[in-house]
Amino acid sequence: MDSLITRNEGPLAAYRARVSEGALRADPAQAHAAEILQTLWRNLRGYDPKPAAPEAKGFFGKLFGGGKRGSGDLAAPEGTPEGLYLVGAVGRGKSMLMDLFFDTAEVPRKRRIHFHAFMQEAHARIHAWRRANPGADDPIPPLADQIAAEASLICFDEFQVHDITDAMILGRLFEALFARGVVMVATSNTAPQDLFKGKPGRDAFLPFIALIQSRVEVFYLESAQDYRRERIRGLPTWHHPVNGRSERALDAAFLELTGTPQGEPASLQVLGRAVPVGEAARGVVRTSFDELCGRALGPADYLALATHFHTLVLDAIPRLGPENFDRARRFITLIDALYEHRCKLVASAEAGPDLLYEQGENAAMFERTASRLMEMQSQEYLGLPHLP
Ligand SMILES: Nc1ncnc2c1ncn2[C@@H]1O[C@H](COP(=O)(O)OP(=O)(O)OP(=O)(O)O)[C@@H](O)[C@H]1O
Ligand SMILES: [Mg+2]
Repeated sequence: MDSLITRNEGPLAAYRARVSEGALRADPAQAHAAEILQTLWRNLRGYDPKPAAPEAKGFFGKLFGGGKRGSGDLAAPEGTPEGLYLVGAVGRGKSMLMDLFFDTAEVPRKRRIHFHAFMQEAHARIHAWRRANPGADDPIPPLADQIAAEASLICFDEFQVHDITDAMILGRLFEALFARGVVMVATSNTAPQDLFKGKPGRDAFLPFIALIQSRVEVFYLESAQDYRRERIRGLPTWHHPVNGRSERALDAAFLELTGTPQGEPASLQVLGRAVPVGEAARGVVRTSFDELCGRALGPADYLALATHFHTLVLDAIPRLGPENFDRARRFITLIDALYEHRCKLVASAEAGPDLLYEQGENAAMFERTASRLMEMQSQEYLGLPHLP
């Protein structure tokens, strides 16, 4: 219902509506960010550049020899609006604000994607292109054509660069995207000038930073509050036994933490495989014990889950016995990974942690798991930052 209003009036009105409904607390820093997003929203109304643009091949190195701000503008078509890069500490509302902007943006071709998923997709497409074009040497222009044809506005959640294989292609890929009129909006915990900091190969990465700085406005969202922490602290995190009531409690927790009743299908990228795991939104994944521990997943999968998501909402942990020792072993590994990375857990279970696995192989080891599960329900643990 209010989507009608917000669609017509942009992210600022949508933000104000949420505040006056009481769904969000008024926050001056967020209101300021919403104003900036509103300007971008206005500049982008009906934005629909021609997908194909002349190739700026070979320019990248030369353009950024001096590392000067502004030189990247040469690569973008006349009149391309400047994008926005929202940076700030965790739980400040960056993703929430970007989502308000994305949902209201009146751009025919728009896309919102987690940055990590975007890069995985880029590598997969390069790989497919090389197979289809043996002998051809530059996959970036066709990749950029494809991405720009799909969207002229791309909203990246959790922009972050850890991987050298990403760092190596980012400069040329983004130069080519900007040349095709693509506008980027991003959320990140890291300011552009600190991306890939301290990593080998950083020097070769600096031109990418200069490019980003020339194409986006950087806004530091300095809300005083970690709203996520506040929300999860107000939530009971262990629900037993498993029944309709516990299921509804988990539904409510997912909604409270993500702002949506249902996420997008999620998958873990592990060693080149994609392992589907339930649904996800805003860094929260929801899945069941059976899906995570009832099939042949291993430490690498649980590690990927614990680093990629800040919260796991886990349905229906059963009581386990000697015949389920393999499930118990996987569950132990899962909880260790969550705990190491300060991933938060909201779960429904047949019993309290102590009574979940009393007999069977590794039952003694499970005592530590039970103790971790207890600690993970504490206000103190819930207040710790996630370690991706
Ligand atoms: N002003 C507010 N009042 C109440 N809740 C808020 C407010 N701003 C954000 N939230 C809620 O706090 C939670 C965290 O917000 P969000 O996910 O947008 O943070 P973030 O800045 O993207 O964090 P991260 O850097 O970890 O991705 C969400 O559930 C969001 O709806
Ligand atoms: Mg976020």
